[in-house]
Amino acid sequence: MTALWTAREAALATGGGVAPGASWSADGVSIDTRAVAPSDLFVALKGPRFDGHDFVATALSSGAAAAMVARPPSGADPARLLAVPDTLLGLEDLARAARARSAARIVAVTGSVGKTGTKEALAALLAGQGSTHASTGNLNNQIGMPLSLARMPAASRFGVFEIGMNHAGEIAPLSGILRPHVAVITTVEPVHIEHFPNIEAIADAKAEIFAGMSEDGIAILNADNPQFARLVLHAKSSNLKSIWSFGEARTAQARLLDVALDAQGSSVEAEILGRLVLFRLNLPGRHQVQNALAVLLAVAALGADIEMAAAGMATLSSVKGRGVTAEIAIARGVFTLIDESYNASPAAMRAAFAVLAMRRPAAGGRKIAVLGDMLELGKAAAADHAALAPDIVAAGIDYVFTAGPLMRHLADALPATRRGGHAESAADLAKLVSDSIGPGDIVLVKGSAGSRMGAVVAALHEKSNEAKGMRDAV
Ligand SMILES: Nc1ncnc2c1ncn2[C@@H]1O[C@H](COP(=O)(O)OP(=O)(O)OP(=O)(O)O)[C@@H](O)[C@H]1O
Ligand SMILES: [Mg+2]
Repeated sequence: MTALWTAREAALATGGGVAPGASWSADGVSIDTRAVAPSDLFVALKGPRFDGHDFVATALSSGAAAAMVARPPSGADPARLLAVPDTLLGLEDLARAARARSAARIVAVTGSVGKTGTKEALAALLAGQGSTHASTGNLNNQIGMPLSLARMPAASRFGVFEIGMNHAGEIAPLSGILRPHVAVITTVEPVHIEHFPNIEAIADAKAEIFAGMSEDGIAILNADNPQFARLVLHAKSSNLKSIWSFGEARTAQARLLDVALDAQGSSVEAEILGRLVLFRLNLPGRHQVQNALAVLLAVAALGADIEMAAAGMATLSSVKGRGVTAEIAIARGVFTLIDESYNASPAAMRAAFAVLAMRRPAAGGRKIAVLGDMLELGKAAAADHAALAPDIVAAGIDYVFTAGPLMRHLADALPATRRGGHAESAADLAKLVSDSIGPGDIVLVKGSAGSRMGAVVAALHEKSNEAKGMRDAV
């Protein structure tokens, strides 16, 4: 296997210093000693709470090939150091060099919701057509995106990256480093709005994704989103010659002709760049259909095969914490858990309710939503939580459990008959929920990652152990 970075290549890429005759080579790049793999290049970043320089010795003794440092830590072998003035800039330089040396076709995915899901779908479908490198997990910020790019093997044919932001001005420099051939903006919604005056300002910040693109780059935009026209103007002023769109609009390059939604997924008929494409999508919800159309346009824009990718849509599976469904055996039956504990916003909540609406509980079962606070909504937060009540009623959700001070507003807005219970934190709510769930129930757990609804998910998984324990004891 060719090394990802030799000492010489890394020194050239960063302008950094290595010991004379340094012979290390790295197969990966890491910034976290808890996740450092043997043969990684460990980059010692200084964060608000920790300084990676304090962990260099640990990284090297756990098998890292070398460490990029801004100051030599005591006790570290100088033959395994790459010295740079600033390690975050060093990581960015490494990323730029990874981009410059590769002939990979690069796609960047941004948007208010659906970035990770779209990125994962692209990564899975492109992998069937050529060697594909994609960012892992949710690595989409000033550190995560350059880190992901620095990890791209030179021989990759496709590179898929997620770019996120909390403030204006964050995406443009990342796009400048990535220089994507193709940029997807999934949708523009009032998410992370606390740092923005209005939705137009969010659209403007997403449009920064065009900043690093050449005129031959292709923009892929949501034709059905109210911010579409604004994004088109941005793409035009970035001189992009190709601006494609997806949605129900007649002018869309990926146009939805017909869709049959069910609880497991959707059957889709679309016209994509003039061709009729029929496919089965194994992810439920209309929002996933939208994302899938964006994915197929991106596949085409990258020069890969649309039909092959469309056929692969039937094999996609949900990303962890974003709709993974489990059947959990308990005493006297089984209940269904839909784990959406990773993320929440008004748009994502409504999308999840719509999916729950399509499910049919077994006899005696109920539809239950366990909801944690949606964070980063700014001044409108309380009203945004209360405003979910009619959607819950319309989706036929029988009981709602709520956790957190913001979700209190939803609990108060719900009809009393649908209130399951409220607690100030997910941890406090977990037992109440766990004790209330019975056979046949379908339980959706959703909240912003910071609301830690994973505690409820864990408690619900535990129920199967309790059931096993009871059987074992008999
Ligand atoms: N197009 C869409 N419209 C509405 N909701 C969506 C859409 N796509 C995905 N979602 C929902 O949004 C949630 C978050 O999805 P995902 O993690 O892919 O988003 P993200 O943009 O990567 O979020 P983050 O800002 O945390 O990186 C999921 O619950 C998913 O079901
Ligand atoms: Mg994400």
